[in-house]
Amino acid sequence: MTAPASAPTVELAVRGGTLVDADWQDRADLFVSRGRIQAVVAPGTPLPAGSGQATEIDATGRLVLPGGVDPHCHVGFTSGDFTSLDDYRACTTAAVFGGTTTIVDFAIPRPGQAPIEAAYAQRAKAAEGLCDSALHACVVSWDGTTHGQLTELAAEGVVTVKMFTTYRGENMADEDTILRTMTTLRDVGGMVVVHCEANHLIEDAQRRCAAHGGVGADRMSFTRPELAETASVAEILAIAESARAPVYFVHQSTASSVELVAAARRRGLPAFSETVAHHLVLDEGRYDGPQPERFVCCPPLRPAAAVRELGRHLFTGEITTIGSDHCCYDLAQKRSNRHDVRTMPNGLPGVETRLPVIFSEYVVGRGLPVTRFVALTSANPARTNGIHPRKGSLRPGADADLAIWDPTLRWTLTAPDLHMATDYTPYEGRTVTGKPTTVVVGGRVVVDADRLVDPTPRGRHLPATRLDLTPTLDPRLPNPTRQYA
Ligand code: URP
Ligand code: ZN
Ligand code: ZN
Repeated sequence: MTAPASAPTVELAVRGGTLVDADWQDRADLFVSRGRIQAVVAPGTPLPAGSGQATEIDATGRLVLPGGVDPHCHVGFTSGDFTSLDDYRACTTAAVFGGTTTIVDFAIPRPGQAPIEAAYAQRAKAAEGLCDSALHACVVSWDGTTHGQLTELAAEGVVTVKMFTTYRGENMADEDTILRTMTTLRDVGGMVVVHCEANHLIEDAQRRCAAHGGVGADRMSFTRPELAETASVAEILAIAESARAPVYFVHQSTASSVELVAAARRRGLPAFSETVAHHLVLDEGRYDGPQPERFVCCPPLRPAAAVRELGRHLFTGEITTIGSDHCCYDLAQKRSNRHDVRTMPNGLPGVETRLPVIFSEYVVGRGLPVTRFVALTSANPARTNGIHPRKGSLRPGADADLAIWDPTLRWTLTAPDLHMATDYTPYEGRTVTGKPTTVVVGGRVVVDADRLVDPTPRGRHLPATRLDLTPTLDPRLPNPTRQYA
């Protein structure tokens, strides 16, 4: 525990709670000064002289967590004919209600738009947010300017770049482009983050579905088989190993994909697995129920046994981060084209529900240590995005972004009570245990007892510093950066 430094005045004191960071937890009080954590002190430690006006939060019976960092969040995302319905203000409002205080968005270029243009346009929106945000750029094709654009973006602190092995004609990149992008990012201290689904296998599956049984939302699993994901992960790992470049796999939906990445990491490659909340909690049985379009996402939901196997890797340490893959479409958008998954909007709203459903299902339900919950949902995403320990940490000096969490509160998820810019949630009617009851952003209380008490947008774009590619993985694994140097 650190003693309070003598000097700065404390503006906020959080007392009586259990502080939980990624690798420790303890009963302690926390002092905030100038928007940052000033000190973690023994319970009851008096405030430093001159701090008479400090706000005090009584966190008795509650956990004090670093605010969540969502590494995968699409804000106002255009794909095909559809644009998801939120902007930075709406998305971050929902985020803070759910205990997330940093989002990482994607700047996906529109046809003809340069990656750097898309990134600068998206970055300019950060100020509309109620919390801070970082950005992944995106490369779809390579030309004579791409290397220069990536180098300039890296100098600006945008060092992670999303690439897709699917969505032909829209965002799909070929292997040469992926190799060149990986190599360039390796040299500037960045990393490719990849959506892996082998497009040729998906198109083939879709052709077969179209001929037999159809391509409606109820057929989602058949149109995007697990094999397409594992095949693509293996291919991208081979490219990364050849280039000796770090690589991060987004929304991995199967244990076998995660295991391919873990095996590469054991060979010394800095390779990381992200999963997203819906793949850890929901299964493909939803496509057999009413309104299967509510659950259409890529990769699709998987069989219940596969969901269980994937979840096991939260405990083995082989999953690095949990994101939301938030895409805020409403039911009218999801219903249009629901008879053809090739053209309907895919993706699920989830920035607000990510932490509550994972806490309930895995910490309360299955005994995941709460420190590991913090690592997966806050510290590790901050590390792989080069914003740790400013974000995702309770260390003195970190931004005072806190989710003060009631671990026993039971509540029911229902769209009218949530704050995302949509009229549905894939978790409608689900009762969960655990809720962020007070949320602090930059030392200011923003949400308290289900109310937005400070709606002032103060969002900042977070440039990445050096990526920290040593997230709290399985301690049995070698340190990837040290091994790979
Ligand atoms: O279904 C999904 N995940 N839609 C959003 C775009 C993407 O692939 O991440
Ligand atoms: Zn994706
Ligand atoms: Zn996504």
